[in-house]
Amino acid sequence: PEPPLLAGKTVTITAGPTREPLDPVRFISNHSSGKMGFALAEAALKLGATVNLISGPVTLTPPAGARVVKVESALEMRDAALTLAPHSDVFIGCAAVADYRAAAVAEQKIKKQGDELTLTLVKNPDIIAEVAALSTKRPYTVGFAAETQDVANYAKGKLTNKKLDMICANDVSREGLGFNSDHNALTLFWGNESLELPPCSKPELALTVMKSVATKLS
Ligand code: C5P
Repeated sequence: PEPPLLAGKTVTITAGPTREPLDPVRFISNHSSGKMGFALAEAALKLGATVNLISGPVTLTPPAGARVVKVESALEMRDAALTLAPHSDVFIGCAAVADYRAAAVAEQKIKKQGDELTLTLVKNPDIIAEVAALSTKRPYTVGFAAETQDVANYAKGKLTNKKLDMICANDVSREGLGFNSDHNALTLFWGNESLELPPCSKPELALTVMKSVATKLS
């Protein structure tokens, strides 16, 4: 058993991909498995937290004891996040939120047309940046950054620009790590400090991340 470092604390986690509808039968999405977010939920439960898991469409079974809010689109995920964040001590954005959605969702199935089809996309809200910008009841806010190059600099940029308390950066160009894998390696950045967590299973890594977050709560 783990020490109850998060007893009495509420942790809200976003996980998985979002699904942006184009018409009644089609969507834009990505390959996020939700494994890291679900592992974080499990780890937070082990440390005694109350856990809200806001999950996009994934095939995983949520950890027993988590309060699961199932969502599809980024806009739905944002609604759930902004409802739960002010009641949370920690907010972790682990979801791979689609950066763009269709400007208009067609009411009927889009018919096959000429050789080219142009879709107009508009930017989705940055959910974690909105949570981090809460003026009252702002939770300790932790983001993830998946990068393929210059990992530390891009991650630190996101820490600052999104006004996060911590960012967990992973180099997704490393073979067998990150997206969809059962293993990952992370570097945590907060303030002017950092901590490198070598490759291990997502459940082990998640526990280390949650313990590290727990020590930073006042
Ligand atoms: O900007 P980028 O997508 O790389 O940032 C990743 C971090 O921001 C993750 O924590 C992700 O969950 C969060 N994010 C978000 N809403 C978006 C885009 C990213 O919450 N629209």
